[in-house]
Amino acid sequence: MLSDIERLAQAFNCAERVLIITGAGLSADSGLPTYRGVGGLYNGNTSDGLPIEAALSGPMLQRDPALCWKYLAELGRACLGAQANVGHQVIAELQRLKPQCWLLTQNIDGFHRAAGSPDDRLIEIHGQLAPLYCQSCGQQEDDLAGRLTEQLPPLCRHCAGILRPPVVLFEEMLPERAISTLYEQLGEGFDLVLTIGTSSSFAYIVEPVLRARAVGAFTAEINPARTGISDSVDVYLAGRALDVLPELLSHISVNRICKSSP
Ligand code: APR
Repeated sequence: MLSDIERLAQAFNCAERVLIITGAGLSADSGLPTYRGVGGLYNGNTSDGLPIEAALSGPMLQRDPALCWKYLAELGRACLGAQANVGHQVIAELQRLKPQCWLLTQNIDGFHRAAGSPDDRLIEIHGQLAPLYCQSCGQQEDDLAGRLTEQLPPLCRHCAGILRPPVVLFEEMLPERAISTLYEQLGEGFDLVLTIGTSSSFAYIVEPVLRARAVGAFTAEINPARTGISDSVDVYLAGRALDVLPELLSHISVNRICKSSP
């Protein structure tokens, strides 16, 4: 009788097309705060008495750029002060093992790219923190770290317009290209959908799991806490990504052959 992690490893070995979905919990092991759950950024208000969703919103960036940038800078400094962890590295290795292993991330920290996940199979559905660009003239600015040491909000050196990161702020639309790539890939179907470190709070994060289940594909979740999809997946592994992913890779590396169905 296979254990749950052996079943997931077997499903990975047998899968041709895999979708891995990641959230803030994966970067929690790099020391970055999550948004919900224990210690989450969204618990309570900011020091300005605002919910973080209001402070980090598109309308706030227009209405009070200095205030919005105060919290954007906090996020930026946290990401720049941390680095990808072994969980990101294992995911990059899984993508090397399977040429059709895609990655959908909600994280804006850039750690997947830093760990070696290929750009052409990485969907950053909430954008990225860099490079900054000018909202007035579009001029690009690569030096996020340097700008965070200067007066905020950062101004364009070309036209003095206010810069912003290509991140999806609250009340803003998701990036069209990311959405179209996601639905193009979902249209081709996946044999395995694995979510890691996400509270599965958004329909576009839950939908790939439900679509996989509907066609009998294998679904799995790695999260120390149960979420709204934990009862729907084939395998729910209660644990930190940092602990579970290396163990999963060791099972996959041992017997890469697809035996009977998992
Ligand atoms: N390993 C795996 N999962 C973990 C770990 C860990 N070490 N630590 C915490 N978790 C789990 C938590 O149990 C929680 O379910 O990670 C999840 C983090 O949930 P959220 O903070 O809601 O993060 P996420 O699901 O990525 O949603 C965040 O929401 O508001 C948007 O833009 C924001 O991208 C962000 C997204």
